[in-house]
Amino acid sequence: MPSILVLNGPNLNMLGVREPGVYGTASLADIERNLREAGARAGASLSFYQSNHEGGLLDQIHAAYGVHDGIVINPGAYTHTSIALRDGIAAVGLPVVEVHLSNIHKRESFRHTSMLAPVCVGQIAGFGAYGYELGLLALLRHLQAERA
Ligand code: DQA
Repeated sequence: MPSILVLNGPNLNMLGVREPGVYGTASLADIERNLREAGARAGASLSFYQSNHEGGLLDQIHAAYGVHDGIVINPGAYTHTSIALRDGIAAVGLPVVEVHLSNIHKRESFRHTSMLAPVCVGQIAGFGAYGYELGLLALLRHLQAERA
């Protein structure tokens, strides 16, 4: 059974309260519950971690090496700034799917660049909370194709 780590970065613990017009009304707990169900349906086991600290996220990426088969990450604002997270993903070599609730490409120009995207399998943006499920399914399909 594939083991997937779901990482959420800064301010995503505030989902449901935070700018609902941009990010929707689902809380992070709601999203994790839905994902756990989607994981069970797809035959994957999921672990969750959220941090407002870059180093905390980086430690989890390192700890995933040899433990998890892949990572779904919404890096929040670190998407646009973190060379450390990008290097961490490259260091562990695990397949990673980047997820954003909002369509970062139609927002402020500083959100158009992702430091992480070049070391990710792909990016899903603009589908709200459903994007996490899409990201999980895309990652599982990628793992399956890698094994075949
Ligand atoms: C976000 C987009 C980022 O630009 C922003 O800083 C976030 C959330 C999203 O899910 O749409 O914190 O990653």
